[in-house]
Amino acid sequence: MKIDLSDKTIIITGGLGAISEAVVRALIEAGAYLILTDAQSPADAARIIEERGHDPRRCEYHQMDVTDAKAVHRVVDACFAKHPKINIALSHAGGTRIEYFADTSDESFDKVVAFNLLGPVYFSRAVLRHWSASKIKGHLIFTSTYISKFPWKGISAYTAAKAGVDLFSKSIALEYAPLGIRSNVVAPGNVAAGSSKLLYETDVDYRRDVDKMSPLGHRNSPESIANAFLYLCSPLADEVTGAYLNVDAGVGLPKVQD
Ligand SMILES: NC(=O)c1ccc[n+]([C@@H]2O[C@H](COP(=O)([O-])OP(=O)(O)OC[C@H]3O[C@@H](n4cnc5c(N)ncnc54)[C@H](O)[C@@H]3O)[C@@H](O)[C@H]2O)c1
Repeated sequence: MKIDLSDKTIIITGGLGAISEAVVRALIEAGAYLILTDAQSPADAARIIEERGHDPRRCEYHQMDVTDAKAVHRVVDACFAKHPKINIALSHAGGTRIEYFADTSDESFDKVVAFNLLGPVYFSRAVLRHWSASKIKGHLIFTSTYISKFPWKGISAYTAAKAGVDLFSKSIALEYAPLGIRSNVVAPGNVAAGSSKLLYETDVDYRRDVDKMSPLGHRNSPESIANAFLYLCSPLADEVTGAYLNVDAGVGLPKVQD
């Protein structure tokens, strides 16, 4: 079955990241129009978009720092003014580095929470105001992580923020269901891309832990995450809301035996 997204106008945060390269490619190939936002400068964005070969007729770029609430509202408003029919919003920007809790400052903890929880909140509010006002039955999709469900050393701010995103998405799903608006979560495992790829390649302890915990014996490809987005953005998922979709090659499975 071919997935046809030609009636979708999709706005994404963190649209220049590693996983989003595969996500954006897959969504454009399925016919969607993509509005990429990211903290990076327009010049860097133009270079990255060209290097990735994203069709410039099927996407555009807007610089937007998700931790700056005013900027988020300003950019989202401008995007809706230009594309009033935006009907899917991907809150995808996020990430962290390993930092043991007692060594972190309040500021660095807050920064991770701002990036991974408050950013998605600002973005959702900005988008939902448009959808509520114009009665668009939109679909919000948040990128979480398999480690929003269990602990992992050195990233307490990140796991707390992502766990917050999971329940936030469910709350939005319930609150906005009467308007036909849906909200779902994609939870990747260890993806062979982005910050965790660098960590995997440079940190021996991290690599050992990741290899030990993967029942399928490998990490996720970015394309496996893109496939989850293809499904959720498609009519196949029209009755899915409040879901937490694990795409983690089994790393999130509880293990009592080796
Ligand atoms: N890589 C993994 O293994 C993995 C695993 C589970 C979940 N995730 C999640 O997937 C998503 C993407 O991860 P990735 O590894 O591809 O990320 P990445 O580090 O490759 O990309 C992050 C993007 O966010 C942008 N960005 C940074 N600060 C920003 C800000 N303040 N406002 C807007 N954009 C900003 C960066 O410029 C970059 O383009 C994140 O939400 C992450 O938590 C990743």
